[in-house]
Amino acid sequence: MKTDSGLQNGPLTGRKQSLIEDARRERSSGPCSSPGPSRCGDGFVFEERDGRVTVNILFALSNEKNVGFFKTGKIFETFEAKLLHVESRPGKRSKNSTTELDFFMRCEVHSSDLDIFINSLKRVADDVRTVPEEKVPWFPRQIKDLDRCNLLITKFDPDMDEEHPGFSDPEYRKRRAFITELAFNYKQGDPLPIVEYTAEEISTWREVYKTLRSIYPSLACRQFLDALQQLERECGYGEEKIPQLREVSAFLKGKTGFQLRPVAGLLSARDFLASLAFRVFQCTQYIRHSSAPMHSPEPDCCHELLGHIPMLADKEFAQFSQEIGLASLGASDEDIEKLSTLYWFTVEFGLCKQNGTVKAYGAGLLSSYGELVYALSNEPEYKPFNPEETAVQPYQDQAYQPVYFVSESFEDAKIKLRRYSATIKRPFSVRYDPYTCSIEVLDQSSKIQNALSQMREDLKILHSALEKLG
Ligand SMILES: [Fe+2]
Repeated sequence: MKTDSGLQNGPLTGRKQSLIEDARRERSSGPCSSPGPSRCGDGFVFEERDGRVTVNILFALSNEKNVGFFKTGKIFETFEAKLLHVESRPGKRSKNSTTELDFFMRCEVHSSDLDIFINSLKRVADDVRTVPEEKVPWFPRQIKDLDRCNLLITKFDPDMDEEHPGFSDPEYRKRRAFITELAFNYKQGDPLPIVEYTAEEISTWREVYKTLRSIYPSLACRQFLDALQQLERECGYGEEKIPQLREVSAFLKGKTGFQLRPVAGLLSARDFLASLAFRVFQCTQYIRHSSAPMHSPEPDCCHELLGHIPMLADKEFAQFSQEIGLASLGASDEDIEKLSTLYWFTVEFGLCKQNGTVKAYGAGLLSSYGELVYALSNEPEYKPFNPEETAVQPYQDQAYQPVYFVSESFEDAKIKLRRYSATIKRPFSVRYDPYTCSIEVLDQSSKIQNALSQMREDLKILHSALEKLG
């Protein structure tokens, strides 16, 4: 999400905004800062979804006539508690008795009823306890849930930032407001909005395109160049018009399954990364101010269309991007910050080896003339991409990066990232289901069995294909 494209070859005057700073902001604002409706602070709520929470309860019943049991059932019925799991066993105080039982119940209740539900149970049962469970921040499970992933960071937009080139231009701000309104109103599945760009906006695009296009052949990686040529042939990329997200999204869908959705500005790290899990890239549609065509303090369509889109047309890179997104789902704020840093030094500022030379694949580089030239000069330090080290590398947001990480290949980066993701602490694993465009949480053995069955079927097809090849 780095957005500067200054021609100067020194420290930047403008700021670069990254997901990392945003992730830090989320962390510093406390454990309840994730955008979803997760309930925090009570120590036993696993997750809140659609106004309901899942809770584990232990209690004991000592009434010999089992009246307590029936009263307990009545409370579950009254509060419309959905039972998810029930266990009973002889109570600790009842070695010589068969009439005293301890119960373990896992159930789902309306979050607003939770306190009174527990208090009601305490009136009819003994030793009522809730069992602490790891809390997991809310995350989207279905692609339509991305409509809720819209937490914006507004401090760099032209209405808030005095240093923004459009800050003192009311016409520009009005135009921005019009285009961002299209994104605010967008719902998953709607046709992507078409923006009729003005002659001034196309002129800004032309200058950026012409300047960057001239240095791509020597500095950009092969995958980027291949995709850019295809985009020029099939999506109208060129100096004469600003490509429409609708056309570009259809192109990407056919290449890697990635699709675009419009976004009103800079998104929170958690929301932005979550969309990648669904192979959805949140894309701004407005353009930078015409007075500074080679600089923008925030993401704009030049950064997205030139920096990000060509790389998302590459299968390995698309997979790499989705893996970062999947790793972020339900991750702690601390892990979101690390993943944001990984994203920064790869998807935004990554370099890779090709035929013995180092080339750029990061969108922040490929949309910035000055930093692209600098990154591939002898000045900065290069380090091999290593997720453990990269995830904690301090980043630079006031000048060019002092350090860049070089991947052996996207395949290599993907394998390393997968290994790193396995170290992220979550009480479950997730898997993307491309048929339903949803996230499957693999927290039960039956789900894992189903996933294995599907894999077996796929393996049979591959086995059959190999046999046919002899
Ligand atoms: Fe970006």
